[in-house]
Amino acid sequence: MLKMNTWGMKWDLHMDICPCDAYFNDWVAASKLTGKTFYHFGTGTHHIVGLRQAELGNTVFAITASKEEYDSYVALVAENSLVAKSYLAYFGDIYLSNPRLLPDFDAVTMFHLCEFSHPNTASTEYGGTTDRGLLDMMTDKTRPGGHILFYTRSNGWQASQTIIPTWEKEQPVERVDDFKTLRIYRKKG
Ligand SMILES: C[S@@+](CC[C@H](N)C(=O)[O-])C[C@H]1O[C@@H](n2cnc3c(N)ncnc32)[C@H](O)[C@@H]1O
Repeated sequence: MLKMNTWGMKWDLHMDICPCDAYFNDWVAASKLTGKTFYHFGTGTHHIVGLRQAELGNTVFAITASKEEYDSYVALVAENSLVAKSYLAYFGDIYLSNPRLLPDFDAVTMFHLCEFSHPNTASTEYGGTTDRGLLDMMTDKTRPGGHILFYTRSNGWQASQTIIPTWEKEQPVERVDDFKTLRIYRKKG
């Protein structure tokens, strides 16, 4: 029995290094999206996506692989019923995502694609998927007309650029306008 690969750190808000979550919130507001459901890769301890989207009338399903970040989520929603109703974060390894447990989304943030795979992630023993497998799964879970977003300043961006061109050809997606440092695709249909 293998242990789940966790992230033994926590991430507070660093707008100078990693503003992707704030830019996602800005993109949603600029796009006037409301009543939508988003999947978010990487909550941080700040939870600014869940908090802001609650204000904008959207719901967020988000993953963290950090015990401290998950603890901060529990502390947050324990004090705020309205945020608890629209923001559901869970503790897990995104590479172990099971499509049978995921609903469809209007947008998915793949901001940390290619950043957190371990050497054993895609092995049969561990049961995980590859970065391309993850991207395909989340594309399947994106509704037609929905969006898939990448962060072009992430540590995984260089590696992501080796899989995105093939993904773009093989999946029903089209590139739309970038927003700040976010690369954005729309699912056709
Ligand atoms: C650098 S932090 C960025 C957090 C937030 N997106 C931000 O920009 O402030 C990376 C995030 O990815 C999450 N993470 C790391 N490995 C993960 C994995 N295997 N599955 C799911 N989330 C993971 C961490 O828990 C953390 O929230």
